[in-house]
Amino acid sequence: MKLWEGRFDKPTAADADVFNESLSFDKKLYRADVTASVAHATMLGTCGIIATDEAERICAGLQSILSDVETGTLAVEGAEDIHSFVENQLVSRIGQVGKKLHTARSRNDQVATDMRLYVRESADNAIKLLCGLTEALTNRASETIGYLMPGFTHLRKAQPVNCAQYFNAYSEMFLRDIDRFSACRKRLNVMPLGSAALAGTSYPIDREITKGLLGFDDISQNSLDAVSDRDFVAEYIFCASLAMAHLSRLCEDTILYTSDEFGYWEIPDEYSTGSSIMPQKKNPDIPELVRGKTGRVYGHLAAILTAIKGLPLAYNKDLQEDKEGFFDTETTLFSCLSIYTSIVGKIKINPRAMFEAAGGGYATATDVADYLAKKGIPFRDAHAVTGKIVRYCIEKNKALTDLSLEEFKSASEIFERDVLAAVTTRSSAEARDSVGGSSRKAARKGISSIRKRLKKY
Ligand code: ARG
Repeated sequence: MKLWEGRFDKPTAADADVFNESLSFDKKLYRADVTASVAHATMLGTCGIIATDEAERICAGLQSILSDVETGTLAVEGAEDIHSFVENQLVSRIGQVGKKLHTARSRNDQVATDMRLYVRESADNAIKLLCGLTEALTNRASETIGYLMPGFTHLRKAQPVNCAQYFNAYSEMFLRDIDRFSACRKRLNVMPLGSAALAGTSYPIDREITKGLLGFDDISQNSLDAVSDRDFVAEYIFCASLAMAHLSRLCEDTILYTSDEFGYWEIPDEYSTGSSIMPQKKNPDIPELVRGKTGRVYGHLAAILTAIKGLPLAYNKDLQEDKEGFFDTETTLFSCLSIYTSIVGKIKINPRAMFEAAGGGYATATDVADYLAKKGIPFRDAHAVTGKIVRYCIEKNKALTDLSLEEFKSASEIFERDVLAAVTTRSSAEARDSVGGSSRKAARKGISSIRKRLKKY
């Protein structure tokens, strides 16, 4: 039965029903819908808007629906949306009194409340998964604190870095994501229930009661805004988009670093795939899929922003379009975070290949320039002298560590014997002892700072 059919002479056409329905996807809201309805009925009873025993019967009926859905004895089907489904079920279970549930309420404030309850839980789960991934990265960082690898800019070797510092970089990104999700959660935890269709209600409701029962921090202050506000869905999808962007970068690194050309890492067999034609292939399908799925989350962000932008106040049915994109974002984000947490823990690291690569490409040239600058040569001149030394090395097919003191001296008299020690890969990384830098000490501090921040969540 439709909740609104009294007004019409004819039933809706079958294709109109199919087009209009949302139960096929909003059935995910069943728990939120029942929870919010129990709170609403309780409040109606407490405020004397319905009798206490009526409220009790409604709540018991709602609980029985919830447990039947949860145990799988009740299939969620055969209604326009989850709100109609629950109400129809209630009336068929407890009779006429079930029809009182919708007093002082509209589906507009109901769906806005359900979504907030659902997105709130989802944000908590996103935070949990992000914490798990960050923990896995931090464990890898503490294992690899002695390893050196090339640091890149423009995907050209730039300066040697500490492998722990590399993993810490991703932890920093995911910590920002955790922080963003928790800010989003805080902002969304405001209750629209009580706004009714758009203008509020003439019944003597007490919104503080429902707020307390549903664990909201606040109640919305404007009913027109409250029923049409989906900022929190857009914000959640934005948080997810940035987390996916970070994950996608890690995937890109994984794909590069596990290639034959780099050989820094290996994805274990359990998380690799093969080719149907080329027997030798070991492919990084999982990181590629995560990278690919990032695009569809961005798509959902564009969709929700577009759905919102032209809406006249207040509720419009366009807002039903918030759900599928949100649910797909959640599923995509969670599956990507959890598979990558497994992968991060199991990637095999080849310290020798990373170390050898770190020493190539004149990656310690900055250390030569810094050496001169620390002896009083203006850095710009030191840079030019070092550039000449690099050119000399390229001509003679030598590494900076192959040069003799005489060869350094022929570029500048200022060089002393200690320059030979200053240009090694290890000393280059160790020299960068500034906060967040590539020295072991800095990386160790980075790890403890990450662990400390993680504990807050
Ligand atoms: N399925 C609808 C949605 O998701 C529920 C609210 C319906 N409200 C209405 N006025 N038709 O937005």
